[in-house]
Amino acid sequence: MNILILGSGGREHTLAWKLNQSKKLDKLFIAPGNAGTAQIGTNLNIDVNDFQSIKEAVLKYAIKMIIIGPEDPLVNGIHDFIVSDNELQQVAVIGPKKAGAQLEGSKDFSKQFMERHNIPTAKYKSFTNVTLEEGYQFLEELQAPYVLKADGLAAGKGVLILNSLEKARSELKEMLSNQKFGKASSKVVIEEFLDGIEMSCFVLTDGKNYISLPNAKDYKRIGEADTGLNTGGMGAISPVPFADATFLKKVEERIIKPTINGLQKDNIDYQGFIFIGLIKVNNEPLVIEYNVRLGDPETEVIIPRLKTDLLDIFIATAEQKLDTITIEFDKRSVTTVMLVSGGYPEAYQKGKEISGIEAVKSSIVFHAGTIRKEDKTVSNGGRVIAVTSFGETIEEALEQSYESIENIKFGDMYYRKDIGFDLI
Ligand code: AMP
Ligand code: GLY
Repeated sequence: MNILILGSGGREHTLAWKLNQSKKLDKLFIAPGNAGTAQIGTNLNIDVNDFQSIKEAVLKYAIKMIIIGPEDPLVNGIHDFIVSDNELQQVAVIGPKKAGAQLEGSKDFSKQFMERHNIPTAKYKSFTNVTLEEGYQFLEELQAPYVLKADGLAAGKGVLILNSLEKARSELKEMLSNQKFGKASSKVVIEEFLDGIEMSCFVLTDGKNYISLPNAKDYKRIGEADTGLNTGGMGAISPVPFADATFLKKVEERIIKPTINGLQKDNIDYQGFIFIGLIKVNNEPLVIEYNVRLGDPETEVIIPRLKTDLLDIFIATAEQKLDTITIEFDKRSVTTVMLVSGGYPEAYQKGKEISGIEAVKSSIVFHAGTIRKEDKTVSNGGRVIAVTSFGETIEEALEQSYESIENIKFGDMYYRKDIGFDLI
């Protein structure tokens, strides 16, 4: 079977690495991919939102399944585009249609979904420019810190957590009246601040059945001890030690099952991943957000733990037969540490030559922002390389990742030396 993966990050390299182990795989294509995916399959120089070019590639290379990495093309309706095209109808898509992708594409939609299906989450209300005054009133009812969320996709920057009422009021106005996040903030969700510890769980559903993947915790801030600006993620660990069996049972009964049943009740046909961002408050799980894809760098720790053939799992998803699959996971701990370009998540330089990857023997090196240029691998993004390791404990896995990193070098390379610091 010929497969196309859309995306270019560490998540997509990890998926490519895993699918490449399947006997059922014939040819693997990645669009646009990175220097890591180029070693496993064929990179196609196509933007993930250029549906027409994707169609041409699917026909040209006889692709039978497309796996969508990032949220953008899903929210833009790539799945709907493929199933409504006569020439593409037989192509399987892993990733929800536009209606399901709204779980990530609209915070207001996802909050209404949770409310409708009794899924625990922070108390909230949504406002537009017309209801700005009511937004101010709602802020008065809450206590600091105040959580303001742009309704639409804002490249991970649309959530503001503000310590004073005055600042919350001015930011609300900036978002609604002055389009701080463009169209994405024409509606704003204001919600109660939840104080707890965050983690993520991952589910794959075929629209009827679901399987749970391992849980993970990522480290979003650029600075050690979780300080500084938010990034896409600087590292991750799996499994999460504070998620014991009792807690995970609550997650399954109160969150995962009602989410899957809720999609069915709402007639939202969904084949793909659901990434549930959770917060544990007084031992109880609440949903912070839904994403309609796998996380990055969470994928770099959960997929290596998967022992089952990933292509078998995807085929079962497309055929709505996930109930026939038994999945197995490696019980060991896995960690990943991201090597990033100095300056990230603000301005940084690209094109730095990367050396030493081949010297890493005891970790898996997943490429993120990398590209091949004149026989060299050079940096091509903020997050450049993820170094994934196994261990009997988180400590052991981390030690291995940090030892492996010693081999890798590129100009202005930066990484956090304290991934997992709060759990050890
Ligand atoms: P989101 O894009 O909704 O995941 O929000 C980004 C980040 O903001 C989350 O990972 C949390 O760290 C934080 N956050 C979002 N909502 C809340 C909330 N209600 N209470 C506390 N922190 C929150
Ligand atoms: N690591 C967080 C995300 O992928 O959204």
